[in-house]
Amino acid sequence: MLAAIGPIRRNPLAFLTDMQRRHGDLVQFPIPRPPTYLVSHPEDVRTLLVSGSKSQSKRTLQYDNLATVTGNGLLTADDPPWRERRRVMQPAFHHSELAGVVAHTNDAVSAWVDRRHMPGQPAIVDLDEVMMELSLQVVASALFGSDWRNLAGGLTRSTVVALDSVVARARNPLAPPRWLPTPGNRRLTAAIKTLDSAVDAVLDQRAASASAGAAGAGDLVDLLIAGLRDRTGRLDRQAVRDELVTFLVAGHETVASALTWAWYLVARHPEVADRLTAEAKAVIGDEQLQLSDLSELPIARSVIDETLRLYPPAWVITRRLTAPAPVRGQELPAGSLVIMSPAIVQRHPDVWSQPDTFDPGRFMGVEARSLRGYLPFGLGPRMCIGRDFALVEATVVLAIMARHFRFEPLDSRPITPLASVTLRPPTGLPVRVIPVSD
Ligand code: HEM
Repeated sequence: MLAAIGPIRRNPLAFLTDMQRRHGDLVQFPIPRPPTYLVSHPEDVRTLLVSGSKSQSKRTLQYDNLATVTGNGLLTADDPPWRERRRVMQPAFHHSELAGVVAHTNDAVSAWVDRRHMPGQPAIVDLDEVMMELSLQVVASALFGSDWRNLAGGLTRSTVVALDSVVARARNPLAPPRWLPTPGNRRLTAAIKTLDSAVDAVLDQRAASASAGAAGAGDLVDLLIAGLRDRTGRLDRQAVRDELVTFLVAGHETVASALTWAWYLVARHPEVADRLTAEAKAVIGDEQLQLSDLSELPIARSVIDETLRLYPPAWVITRRLTAPAPVRGQELPAGSLVIMSPAIVQRHPDVWSQPDTFDPGRFMGVEARSLRGYLPFGLGPRMCIGRDFALVEATVVLAIMARHFRFEPLDSRPITPLASVTLRPPTGLPVRVIPVSD
């Protein structure tokens, strides 16, 4: 394990992949405490996350570090308060809300497309940065009823700084305590402050319009304000803050990562790029795209499904066992740390043929979520609450942008993803923007 510290810090996903290839679907790491396992077989991962979920906790290094930023929000919380919070927020993710997600995504992408059509635009853009800003705007408008166009750059940078520093802390056994004013700690504190003040402004604005007698928007913020009250009936502002920061962070970097990798893969497969553009041209006219149009965009959707297989943004899921669990004929004791990686499971040769090949065709006419060994949004009760939101948003962004532009990477060499909280290209995705002829 000592010799592995370097490789783990450089590329933890490559390290885990190598462990699975060398030692198989159940690997125990030689560290004394806690007993730590990598579980990689699709069936075992499903059993653990679905039927084993009642005997698990999220009190792992991964989620505890993330909680430095998100507090006790839905993603990191155990039950209680998890179940009740999920119930409170679920209506914001109901199927009936997806038409709104399409409309908000349409607005954000169309504004970008219109700007690009104006004279004097730079020929080269960093698509990773563009995807981050667009997805932040969609979260802000669809869930928080806010217009963050002018804040987007600062907020996405703060999100990346905050997430990268919690990951760096998690991977450094000698990380200085949070109270020491080291440059890293100061950067993290400043980034959290930026996220906090954006969320505070949302809450202040809601309070102001409520006292002016305005009707609520009925969005996530209203659900939280109505549902998260302390025992005396007063608004639990800290709990609402934690949820809003959770959704800000969980809801935008993940979608941006998926879209960035989708563009990366499409650019390397010109035949897919051609079909994607042809489909988008046939479906997207002058009218705004509607939710019902999405069934006419199977290529865009299958590109997203296949990208999420090859580059799952949430590449690692961890659990602490609160009761023993049988895996591959062995009993993992209570207290164990279990590591599961969608990135490894989704290339498992037992369930995927040619697992490393980009082939959106494998998802054409297939409900991706029904496939064995496919879990980009997790499985079981802790599965992503924003799954449909994310799929709708990503499909709309991909289709509208492909309708108007092609993107040619400046560097054709393969990119090794940086495995931070999500998978990201380490130096962005600079591309030349080429308009598609009408
Ligand atoms: C492509 C985009 C996305 C991916 C790949 C993704 C992935 C995941 C995964 C794997 C989990 C489960 C983690 C675990 O079991 O430990 C999760 C949970 C969660 N995701 Fe997502 N997510 C995405 C988009 C979103 C969006 C758009 C939102 C909100 C708008 C969101 C909010 C959440 C929340 C709040 C949880 C915690 C749910 C709970 O524990 O009840 N995610 N996500």
